[in-house]
Parts: sequence; structure tokens; C-alpha cells
Amino acid sequence: MTRREFLKFAGIGAGIVYTGTWLSACGGGSLSGLSTAVKNRLLVPSDQGGLLGYYRPTGRFTLTAQRAVFEILPGKQTSVLTYTLEDAGKTYYNPILVLRKGDVFSVDFDNRTGEKSIIHWHGFRAPWRADGHPSYAVADGGVYNYPDVKIIDRSGTYFYHPHPHGRTGYQVYMGLASMIIIEDTDEDNLKNALDLSYGTTDVPLIIQDRTFDENGSLIYNPMGMNGQMGFWGETVLVNMTPNPYMDVERRIYRFRVLNGSNARPYRLVLLRGSDRIPFHVIGVEGGLLESPVQTKEILVAPGERIDILVDFRLVNEGDILRLYSLQHNLVGMGGGMSSVNREFEVLEFRVVKGSSYDRSIPARLSTVNAIDTTGVPTENVSLGMSGGVFTINGQTWNETDPLFTGYGFNYANGDRVIFKITNNTGTYHPMHFHGFQFQVFGRSSGNLRPTDLGWKDTVIVGPHETVEVVMDMSLGFTPAETQYYLFHCHILEHHDAGMMVNFTVT
Ligand code: C2O
Ligand code: CU
Ligand code: CU
Repeated sequence: MTRREFLKFAGIGAGIVYTGTWLSACGGGSLSGLSTAVKNRLLVPSDQGGLLGYYRPTGRFTLTAQRAVFEILPGKQTSVLTYTLEDAGKTYYNPILVLRKGDVFSVDFDNRTGEKSIIHWHGFRAPWRADGHPSYAVADGGVYNYPDVKIIDRSGTYFYHPHPHGRTGYQVYMGLASMIIIEDTDEDNLKNALDLSYGTTDVPLIIQDRTFDENGSLIYNPMGMNGQMGFWGETVLVNMTPNPYMDVERRIYRFRVLNGSNARPYRLVLLRGSDRIPFHVIGVEGGLLESPVQTKEILVAPGERIDILVDFRLVNEGDILRLYSLQHNLVGMGGGMSSVNREFEVLEFRVVKGSSYDRSIPARLSTVNAIDTTGVPTENVSLGMSGGVFTINGQTWNETDPLFTGYGFNYANGDRVIFKITNNTGTYHPMHFHGFQFQVFGRSSGNLRPTDLGWKDTVIVGPHETVEVVMDMSLGFTPAETQYYLFHCHILEHHDAGMMVNFTVT
């Protein structure tokens, strides 16, 4: 039997009273009352193990997916699933894996979830047998030995989570998800230029929404009131911390924003009072942009990772800044969505200290070579609905033939392809490709956003919008066989219901 573990977060100790599920506590979209809610110190990982602890593998290691009990809401115990890792006397839960380009990534997955599972390394360019394709899911009690993968990706923020067909939404919701950080020399230069370090000024913000019952147990009922909207939780957590705050100094911080929610997008702004404070986007899923882009808001969908820099020298010591999520137009007007599509606070920053910090943001971060689109064939992709299930070119996942023999999208190693993705439905779909990063070059609703730049693996396609992306299907390794990769919606309930197909590269 799985050993039950109890873990108490630093900063959410005795004496702090949780004031309730704050998102639903403020009815009618009003945010009054939030300012009085008791805040919890944001969990920031360290290299000493624990939840999200930074882990640098030095050889083959094992991630065990199993039950654990965490105190997420103060004073309550929540049974979750977590990837557990033991090394050098330390226990890690959902460790943030820190890798270097050129490293060999070598892992075993031990499945103690109670059901089939497999891990997908979201964003990695890896051979398909190491990619977590659902046909490699192992039963409870089983182990999957991933073939070694040489890391060929750029520095950036990647993502790992389960990928068994039909159960991804549930398993991610129960807690199985974390980050991978890849480093290279561009990353070293940025870190040196800005004097950034992990766990103090280079901080993950893993944003997830969850619904708890009175006892602190997680409730997951996507087919209930949320129906085809996927699952939208009532409480937003950042690094598993409800109602979080973080103390900062007057200097530059890097935040690696990962939307690890099942279905909810966040339209993030940084507020001082009602003033919007600008910040810089420096990277997206496939790593650093060529240059920082200043903006006052970012839209982040499930699966996307957006790296930002915030310069707290723009404000004063003693100021409070709020990372807020605003209403957006991604889910149309239908079906009770006004109750979930509203604004709310995600994280409070308290500027508690001055600093003699004198660095400035480098003008150039990396090199991003644009993929030439001239003469590249276009693959038209239509997102629709049939029989109550969202479809890709009329198709849904075929559990009896998960390789889509004879009717997937088929390409040759080195092909370039434009995917012109048209959403014929009234809700948004964050579309994700495995195996490759792509570049976005067209959006029918207007200009590209800062979060559309650079190398991407997940792109928001709004209601009735057409988005064009170009992909270079050069594998970066020598394929011994046909490679089967997935193309799916990252709203996990859509994907579990079948909004997923294969494409092959030979
Ligand atoms: Cu993060 Cu196939 O997905
Ligand atoms: Cu992926
Ligand atoms: Cu979708």
C-alpha cells in the first residue's frame, strides 16, 4: 500500500485562519472583501527537496506517482497524487527538474496511482517512445523505463504531466504536474546579467484552479455543471498556495508562469491600485525570445509557459502590487460562463525592501531564426464538434487504433508545414503539438500577442478564430522508425474526451 505522507508547507502554519473559498466568496463579480482575506506566503521551491524542490539529475532516477496528503488549505488535509523522488536523503514532491542542453535525460516511471498512467515531457523534442504517448501507459504497479533522451532543446521552461488517454484531466487535477528547466549559454548570460538565482529571484508561478469540499478534499466533476467548458475550479492556487503573497525587493525578478490548470485561461495584469504596471515577456514554451517585449498584460492558456521579468524598481518600498486575472473573450457568451469568467486576484507582491540593485534588462536574449514560409504547403485544420465532442478535422482519438494507421497527418523528417487552424466552435482551444516547437505567424482576430512570439508548442485559438503556425519537422535525432506524435487541445477535458489525433514523421 502507498505510504501516506504528511507535509506541512512553510508559511502556512498554525495561527493562520483561512477565510474560505475566496473566489466564490465574492458574489456578483465584486472583489470587495478580498483585501481582508488572510494571505499565505507563496511556496517558493528550494534545492532542499520538498514540494517543487529543484532537482538536478546526475544519472538515471525514478519518479513514483503516488498518493500523498498535503495541507493546502490551512488546517485541512487534502489527498493528492504527486510525483515523488528520493535522493541523497531528501524527498521531493513534483520536483522541478533542472537540466542542461546536451545532457542525457534518463528516467524510470513507477506508477502507483491506482490506474494506468504515463508521463509526457511537454515541449521536449524527443523520440516518440520517450514522449509519453498514451499507447505506452502502464497499469497500476507497472514501471516504464524511458529510453535515454539527449536534450536538444533551448533553455526555457518545460512541463511534465500524465498522458494516459481519458484520465489526464483527473490525474493532473489530483496533483501530477511540474516543471522542467533547461539551461544553456543564453540562459547563463541572462542569469549573470540580471543576477538571478533559483528560488529567490527566479521563481516558478504554477497557476492551477481547484475546488475543495468542506473537509479539504478535491472535487472533480467536469461533466457536471461545467460540461464542455472543461473543469474550472473555485480556488486559484499558485505553487499549491491559496491566496498567496510574496515579499519582494526593489529589483528585477524573473517569474516562470506555467498555466497548469485543466481548462481556465488567465489574462494577467500587474496592478498597483488601478494602475497597470508594465513588465517584460522574455520567453515562451520553446525558450527565450530574441528580445524582451514590454507589455501590460498576457493571456496564458493551459499548457503555455510564459517567462516574464518584473522590475519592482518601478514602484516604491511599501507598495503592494497585485497579479490579477481579468475577464477575457475566450469562452463566448454562453452557458453560465459569466460566473467563472470574471476578474480575481492571483498573487500579491509586497515590496518590502529597497535594494542597491543596478542591473538592466539586456536588449538581446537569444537568436530565433524565423522559419521561411515561402512555398511551404498548408495543412487546413478545422476544430469542430460532433456528437457533443470537440473534433480535429472531424476526427477524435481512436482508442482501438491509437496509431491512427493510415489516416493521421503524415510527414517526412525535415518537412516544413503550415497548419492553418480554424476554430469553428464558440469556445477557445489551446492547441498543442508534441515533438516539435512551431512559430505563430497569423491570427485572424488581429495582431500577434507577445505570448505568440518565439518558439511555441501550444497556441490559443479563440472562438471562430483562425491561427496560422509553421513547423519545421526536422527531428534532431536519427529516427530508427516512424515517430508518432500527438496533436491535441490542452483543455484536458476536451483532450480526454477525444480532441486529439496523431501525426507521424518518418
Ligand atoms: Cu501537455 Cu500532450 O500535453
Ligand atoms: Cu506535450
Ligand atoms: Cu479544446
